Amino acid sequence: MQEFVDALPLPAIVVGRDERLLAANAQAIQLFGRGVLGRHYITSFRQPALLDAIEQVMSDGKSRQARYLSTEARRDKTWAVHLAMMGADRPMLITFEDQTATEEAGTMRRDFVANVSHELRTPLTALIGFIETLRGAAKNDPAAQARFLEIMDREAVRMNRLVEDLMSLNRVEATERIRPLDLVDLASIARSVIHALEPLAAERGMTIVHENLEDAARLPGDADQLAQVITNLVENALKYSGFGKKVTLRMETVDNHPMTRGPAASLSVIDTGDGFNPELIPRLTERFYRIDNHRSRELGGTGLGLAIVKHIINRHRGRLRIESAPGQGSVFTVILPTKVSI
Ligand SMILES: Nc1ncnc2c1ncn2[C@@H]1O[C@H](COP(=O)(O)OP(=O)(O)OP(=O)(O)O)[C@@H](O)[C@H]1O
Ligand SMILES: [Mg+2]
Repeated sequence: MQEFVDALPLPAIVVGRDERLLAANAQAIQLFGRGVLGRHYITSFRQPALLDAIEQVMSDGKSRQARYLSTEARRDKTWAVHLAMMGADRPMLITFEDQTATEEAGTMRRDFVANVSHELRTPLTALIGFIETLRGAAKNDPAAQARFLEIMDREAVRMNRLVEDLMSLNRVEATERIRPLDLVDLASIARSVIHALEPLAAERGMTIVHENLEDAARLPGDADQLAQVITNLVENALKYSGFGKKVTLRMETVDNHPMTRGPAASLSVIDTGDGFNPELIPRLTERFYRIDNHRSRELGGTGLGLAIVKHIINRHRGRLRIESAPGQGSVFTVILPTKVSI
């Protein structure tokens, strides 16, 4: 029996006719501890769902499935347990199939759909409401009509942005495993982004300055995606700073960066805006996460900007470093390897 379970790729246990654990392979020992060998199954497993299944299989001899939950290094794991007699009046074989990844993927998918629906619902509800008003109460009021159409326009633009961001997130995820190999110049990409965002900065009375963007910084990359990274970071710096503030883009190239363990270019987007509590840093790159929900929405944000940034940087095998303190502004630094490594 021991040799038999040792040959199985899953945690496997054999329970003898005397209801004691007859054999367990190394994976099962890791799950239940060495002490279970020779013990009664009731004291070994303890979870009612599994115990019930064992009793039923013993009484009618029919194979069954059950769920077993464990905790490993503070992470919950879910197991699909298969129970079967190895012949009439023979021991029972119990195997444990790890279902954690599948369950987590399911939860993530459901959360994602719930978030998207919620984000779309707010502007849609507004649109439906205003259409009704335009048909009814505001039917003969051109001033009100103009005002409502303005709001409807804004809400439609917001929905459009959300859909665009979702599609771009999808595209980035689809290419994440394919390393970009074209040599691009990060400095010139950054300069063109600054050029494109200058009108937005001017609108807010802000200026964008750059340091060390004159010399080329060549690296293997996807030019469009890198432009999107810089755009999202500079847009944030502009959005979350007050009127008249300054945003700085600073480029540095180093022979050996500790965060990528090799030659790298690092581009920092520095603002002197609101800043935030550094405890929130790990959450910023989550999809739909916004520190100040209301404020971000007001500014037309979807909360997907930094999630997209993160995926693009991953694809480039780079790193994102975020530093901030409330009222002190923030620094978002993108560190990208400059050498193609296999
Ligand atoms: N430079 C910054 N200063 C202060 N807070 C920031 C800065 N950049 C991002 N944040 C915070 O992080 C949150 C997430 O940023 P992210 O770019 O992912 O979403 P967003 O800006 O709200 O929406 P979107 O980028 O999709 O328009 C923002 O809502 C904001 O609260
Ligand atoms: Mg943003």
